[in-house]
Amino acid sequence: MYCKSNYYSIFLIKFLTKCYKNFVKYYNLIKENKNRNGGSKIFNIKNVISIKDFKKEDIKFVLDEASKLEKIAKSQETSNKLFGKILGIMFFEASTRTRLSFETAMKRLGGNCIGFTGIDESSIIKGETIADTSKMFESYSDTIVIRHPLEGVAKFISDIVDVPVINAGDGAGQHPTQTLLDLYTIKKEFGKIKNLNIALIGDLKYGRTVHSLSYALGIFGAKMHFISPNDLKMPDEVLHDLKRKKISYHETNDLKDVIDDLDILYVTRIQKERFPDVEEYERIKGAYIIDKNLIEGKNLIVMHPLPRTDEIRHDIDDTKYNKYFNQAFNGVPVRMAILKNIIKNNK
Ligand code: CP
Repeated sequence: MYCKSNYYSIFLIKFLTKCYKNFVKYYNLIKENKNRNGGSKIFNIKNVISIKDFKKEDIKFVLDEASKLEKIAKSQETSNKLFGKILGIMFFEASTRTRLSFETAMKRLGGNCIGFTGIDESSIIKGETIADTSKMFESYSDTIVIRHPLEGVAKFISDIVDVPVINAGDGAGQHPTQTLLDLYTIKKEFGKIKNLNIALIGDLKYGRTVHSLSYALGIFGAKMHFISPNDLKMPDEVLHDLKRKKISYHETNDLKDVIDDLDILYVTRIQKERFPDVEEYERIKGAYIIDKNLIEGKNLIVMHPLPRTDEIRHDIDDTKYNKYFNQAFNGVPVRMAILKNIIKNNK
């Protein structure tokens, strides 16, 4: 009798232990799946104003999501994830890639877009304020993406509307979604970011893409070289942010100092439209020209946010070094990942 009862106790203990182990296993699986699929624990960002709004985990999440959305971005699969949703596009400055890749991203996910590029396509030309215009976009759309020549305008709009606001470039300030697609491109090429040697070259003073990118590369542990003429050096406030995060960098005027060590040469345009004095632009333009002869035999790739003028010669376009056109395509899956999660989180 005693033996039989002992046998049942052992059986019961084993059974309960197994149940408990299964419970823990399934609980962890559900938790992990929730996080992976955009649960608010990882991606809890409403407005995308600066790359500093993102923690490292948020960036990893966006890159991972973008990778899962590639087939839809390439039209190999279809999706209706954002069916019935509208993206409001307020562009006060010209754009090819940012505007069209946002539109493509929204439409590939089954959503739609409204908006304008330039004030003469809106009632701002009649004297309406940006604040009033934003309130109209808030009532017509689920998210606003804005580009403006003045730093801080995207932040200002995010403070007066309830829908999410995405900064698509504010003057010489920030261009956070460009940074995310740059990181995505690097990750696709190298499978990592840490310890890569990257030179950011050209207009580091007015270039919003490099202001955002340097911060993100720093938190991922890349080795950064800032190459520019003295008059176009990385601004003190960007360097200050890096120092505060204990991120190291190296500055020089001469590409030859580092070219043999580079994994990535990230070229930027010297931006005529940002110079207060056109004579100063004329003096500095053409400071760095990257051609096939300069990089042949080197073990690096060439990236550029585009548009380019003459800083990357066309003889590189058909070589293995050219990654700038792939980079521009990568804007689609990355912006899909951002739109999908931002609109979902704001329900
Ligand atoms: N990289 C980028 O912002 O390009 P566009 O100015 O064409 O949008």
